Amino acid sequence: MQLITTKKALFEVVSHAKSTGKTIGFVPTMGALHNGHLTLVKRCVSENDLCFVSVFVNPTQFNDKNDLANYPRTLEADAQLLASVGCQFVFAPNADEMYDAEEMQKPFEFDFGGLDEVMEGRFRPGHFNGVVQVVSKLFQLVQPTRAYFGEKDFQQLAIIRRMVTIMNFPVEIVGCPIVREESGLALSSRNALLTPEQRQLAVHISQVLKESCLFALETPVHELHDALVAAVNAREGLEVEYFEIVDGKTLQPIEKWEETNDIVGCITVYCGKIRLIDNIRYK
Ligand code: PAF
Repeated sequence: MQLITTKKALFEVVSHAKSTGKTIGFVPTMGALHNGHLTLVKRCVSENDLCFVSVFVNPTQFNDKNDLANYPRTLEADAQLLASVGCQFVFAPNADEMYDAEEMQKPFEFDFGGLDEVMEGRFRPGHFNGVVQVVSKLFQLVQPTRAYFGEKDFQQLAIIRRMVTIMNFPVEIVGCPIVREESGLALSSRNALLTPEQRQLAVHISQVLKESCLFALETPVHELHDALVAAVNAREGLEVEYFEIVDGKTLQPIEKWEETNDIVGCITVYCGKIRLIDNIRYK
């Protein structure tokens, strides 16, 4: 496996791959890799001639400086894991390699067509502009045939699909199902920050989501919504930031189950100070 840190070296490797007609699979990450990432990487390896993974903690998508400072950085361990699952190229630039001073100062703007006005977009202003900024740059550099994203970040995936349509990137976006612990807890780099007690408590989030599927379509949407929020909040130590039952394409909240055939419930919960997200498909 080759570790690449400069755009110039990446350009050379990508140009060579393109000139020999190889398909390029790409998994963008911020490192601190867990089994959820490795599932994406394994799929990427199996579906493409070459697998590229980026490891870059992107400063422009953090609206909280402390969150950025505390984000785990574990490049050596990440590189070992990536080599063990057959990744051929890791691109791990520093921030100066990715952005010039002006780009770091001036907010990047993208027309999200309303996709950013709900859920994460409401609670993390500017976050998705930073995500689109870095992913569009990475796509220009890596020129992937296919790129792999987890469905845990459901809104991010919808936004990346819109970006690809609007910016005409010739890439297939592959959404991959959430990977869960046996307990049901969705895998996340942030789980490492939970105490053993909080980890037990956090399991409750996926349990409540799963149970809600049993009676979802027979219960009015707003009733299901309120019951689910109350059930999560009933556990001391858990606090729902938002729960939205949305159209899976437009991400706009629905009022009736008959409105569409693509319905997802998206939740963000604080477990102590740790912000966890999860989602469930109802239809
Ligand atoms: O999902 C993530 O880890 C990040 O948002 C991404 C897509 C790597 C962009 O920095």
